[in-house]
Amino acid sequence: MLHHMVLLPLALYGAGLAGATPLSEQPSSSSSSRLRGVEAIDVRALPNSPSGRYAPKAVDCPAQKPTIRSAATLSKSETDWLKLRRNATVDPMADLLKRANIPDFDAAAYIRRVAGNVSQLPNIAIAASGGGYRALLNGGGFLAAADSRTPGSTGKGGIGGLLQASTYLAGLSGGGWLVGSLYSNNFSSVVQLRDGSPDSSVWKFDRSIFQGPSKSTGFSILNTAKYWSNVADAVSTKDDAGFNVSITDFWGRALSYQLINDTDGGPAYTFSSFADSDSFKQGQQPFPILVADGRAPNTQIISLNSTVYEFNVFEMGSWDPSTFGFAPTEYLGSNFSNGQIEQNGHCVRGFDQAGYVMGTSSSLFNQFLLQDINSVPDVPKFVLDAVTKVFKGLGEDSNDIAQYQPNPFLDYNPSTNPSARSQELSLVDGGEDLQNIPLHPLIQPVRGVDVIFAVDSSADVNNWPNGTALRATYDRSKGQIANGTLFPPVPDEHTFINQGLNRRPTFFGCDVRNFTLRAGQVAPPLVVYVPNAPYTTLSNVTTFQPSYTKTQSNDIIRNGYDSATQGNATVNPDWPVCLSCAILNRSFGKTNTTVPKACADCFTKYCWNGVLDTKDNGPYYPQFIIGNQTTKENAAVGRATAGSASVLTLAVGLAVLSVL
Ligand SMILES: *[C@@H]1O[C@H](CO)[C@@H](O)[C@H](O)[C@H]1NC(C)=O
Ligand SMILES: *[C@@H]1O[C@H](CO)[C@@H](O)[C@H](O)[C@H]1NC(C)=O
Ligand SMILES: *[C@@H]1O[C@H](CO)[C@@H](O)[C@H](O)[C@H]1NC(C)=O
Ligand SMILES: *[C@@H]1O[C@H](CO)[C@@H](O)[C@H](O)[C@H]1NC(C)=O
Ligand SMILES: *[C@@H]1O[C@H](CO)[C@@H](O)[C@H](O)[C@H]1NC(C)=O
Ligand SMILES: *[C@@H]1O[C@H](CO)[C@@H](O)[C@H](O)[C@H]1NC(C)=O
Ligand SMILES: *[C@@H]1O[C@H](CO)[C@@H](O)[C@H](O)[C@H]1NC(C)=O
Ligand SMILES: *[C@@H]1O[C@H](CO)[C@@H](O)[C@H](O)[C@H]1NC(C)=O
Ligand SMILES: *[C@@H]1O[C@H](CO)[C@@H](O)[C@H](O)[C@H]1NC(C)=O
Ligand SMILES: *[C@@H]1O[C@H](CO)[C@@H](O)[C@H](O)[C@H]1NC(C)=O
Ligand SMILES: *[C@@H]1O[C@H](CO)[C@@H](O)[C@H](O)[C@H]1NC(C)=O
Ligand SMILES: *[C@@H]1O[C@H](CO)[C@@H](O)[C@H](O)[C@H]1NC(C)=O
Repeated sequence: MLHHMVLLPLALYGAGLAGATPLSEQPSSSSSSRLRGVEAIDVRALPNSPSGRYAPKAVDCPAQKPTIRSAATLSKSETDWLKLRRNATVDPMADLLKRANIPDFDAAAYIRRVAGNVSQLPNIAIAASGGGYRALLNGGGFLAAADSRTPGSTGKGGIGGLLQASTYLAGLSGGGWLVGSLYSNNFSSVVQLRDGSPDSSVWKFDRSIFQGPSKSTGFSILNTAKYWSNVADAVSTKDDAGFNVSITDFWGRALSYQLINDTDGGPAYTFSSFADSDSFKQGQQPFPILVADGRAPNTQIISLNSTVYEFNVFEMGSWDPSTFGFAPTEYLGSNFSNGQIEQNGHCVRGFDQAGYVMGTSSSLFNQFLLQDINSVPDVPKFVLDAVTKVFKGLGEDSNDIAQYQPNPFLDYNPSTNPSARSQELSLVDGGEDLQNIPLHPLIQPVRGVDVIFAVDSSADVNNWPNGTALRATYDRSKGQIANGTLFPPVPDEHTFINQGLNRRPTFFGCDVRNFTLRAGQVAPPLVVYVPNAPYTTLSNVTTFQPSYTKTQSNDIIRNGYDSATQGNATVNPDWPVCLSCAILNRSFGKTNTTVPKACADCFTKYCWNGVLDTKDNGPYYPQFIIGNQTTKENAAVGRATAGSASVLTLAVGLAVLSVL
């Protein structure tokens, strides 16, 4: 089922390049001393790269040297943190369920009763799919609705507090920009980011990533030429420090100007630093995860058998039985071999640069950059030359990769890990295997998630989703690569369209009795599928539309909000109750609680019941569900800027491009 078919083998990497990084012998900045200096003035994600810039840097290792660990369990860091987080979700969850007011059932009392037992307390996750800016904005609308900080979100028909009640928040590609941006900005709310602030270029999508931020943003005086010079200079610092750079470095740097509210898009921000904010440490935020796919050496094909990697604030690695290991995110870039750093070896920090991680998850957009950068006026020649040099060095068919060299999993699990013998780990956009919703981290039995809100902004048909992303994860669950991890059955695309499963929230896997479990197997979470659909505007903008007027981006965010709340429960008055029942479903089973009548009705209405309708009824042109409330000035602008996708014909993996 995969189309990402390209021609040249990747014979280019060899010769132990990055291992021998010529790094200076700076005094160490151990975790604690690093924090002490900064905490006093700032509790945001920390620009804590030891180089103070974009480049990673060698540091002395901490007394307990970092190692690669087996994926058989959760990390100790996550396990310890979960104690705080799970407890912190109790009040918001009880409030949310109380407001929903399930008839003849005191849900708040129920939550308080089960709160002492983490396996009975609902464990909630949210997943934001890929799909470029469309996904960021539509996913952002969902998060705005779910966030109790959003004005009006806890009013009648609202679902505010769902975010505060969630344990995990995963993003992939464009959804990864959303998640990464929230955490890079002190877990700002979507509304704050949407509205921005005068001196900041954050979420100012009216200026394309090719133009760069407006001169009037206060951080530094930029024009397009200076902006691209800064991007190229930052990338060159990484090169100069002895690390291979890929197009993803340029892409991630450029993205950061839109997503990270700091001078030059915060070149020293790291992904692992999200864990250093007080609010995260106290369990006051969900656990952020981004997803990417591994590309095996000498192959171009990304299939459902490709290894799926996750980045979380503590670790990066894979649960798949291929790699089956995790590296500490903070120490990516260190020279591991068979899980260890050699006796006198240094550690490296700063490799997990926040924009680079967001760029990795969305590396398919490397091609967007390559296609369009040449036609942007004012990009200095030396920048184009630098991009071309990297592009040529990698080979055209590898321009969608992000290089992780040294490979943290070198010689690790060599009998099953396809990259074990490679100096480099090549990662690509998490949607390239068609699993465009970051479900993989959330279905791992060790995480014990009960319900996943899966927000799908994929472009399957007329830039609306048709269930392909969910089905990919279901199909994968049937193969050996799934290692026994189950996923609810998901029907074909025609059934989705014909039954309207892609026009309203649909629950998958409602009845645990439908799963035949082998010894040691557990039922997967219930999946609440929340597809992008036209509630109040045509939010199906093309994936490669480069810029959005403020009104258009606000309209799409609002449409996502209306999807999440079902128009504040005007479309489906039972929605707040039924969303609550989805949260409670698995817990009811574990506590042998008789399902309240209202919930039983919800499951009858919202659960996919296994019936198929595979007839092809022609093209899919959904009508407005609430009504066209598009702000007047938009439509024309949307059309005027939508052209860029059509020039992408040179790109590799075109079929995949059309999905994301
Ligand atoms: C659990 O959360 C409640 C409410 O926020 C708090 O009062 C209590 O101290 C927490 N308990 C633990 C063990 O963290
Ligand atoms: C739902 O409520 C929010 C918050 O009050 C509001 O912004 C939005 O316009 C409402 N949507 C509809 C369809 O009424
Ligand atoms: C970060 O957010 C917290 C609220 O969660 C706030 O108390 C703190 O002041 C914020 N820090 C910065 C630097 O904005
Ligand atoms: C951006 O950062 C500035 C300076 O820290 C702050 O004043 C402003 O509120 C931030 N804007 C947003 C939208 O977070
Ligand atoms: C998953 O794969 C790993 C590594 O191959 C293996 O050790 C483990 O037992 C497997 N787990 C399950 C649940 O099959
Ligand atoms: C569903 O989506 C897939 C993947 O994007 C696409 O190839 C297919 O044509 C779509 N089918 C229908 C009937 O919409
Ligand atoms: C994935 O691996 C399985 C064996 O577990 C094989 O049967 C299947 O054909 C492979 N699928 C793809 C898409 O390569
Ligand atoms: C917690 O809940 C699980 C699932 O219902 C149950 O098996 C376990 O015995 C409970 N633990 C305690 C201490 O009650
Ligand atoms: C639920 O019922 C099953 C069998 O009916 C029993 O084994 C289990 O212990 C019960 N669990 C709880 C939490 O009451
Ligand atoms: C679950 O099992 C019931 C009873 O066998 C069956 O009617 C239903 O179609 C199944 N649901 C799914 C989603 O397969
Ligand atoms: C968006 O969907 C509408 C129908 O619902 C369709 O007419 C239009 O062509 C689609 N727009 C894009 C950019 O695909
Ligand atoms: C929706 O309304 C806007 C103006 O508010 C209009 O320009 C656009 O054509 C309308 N779209 C559809 C599909 O009716």
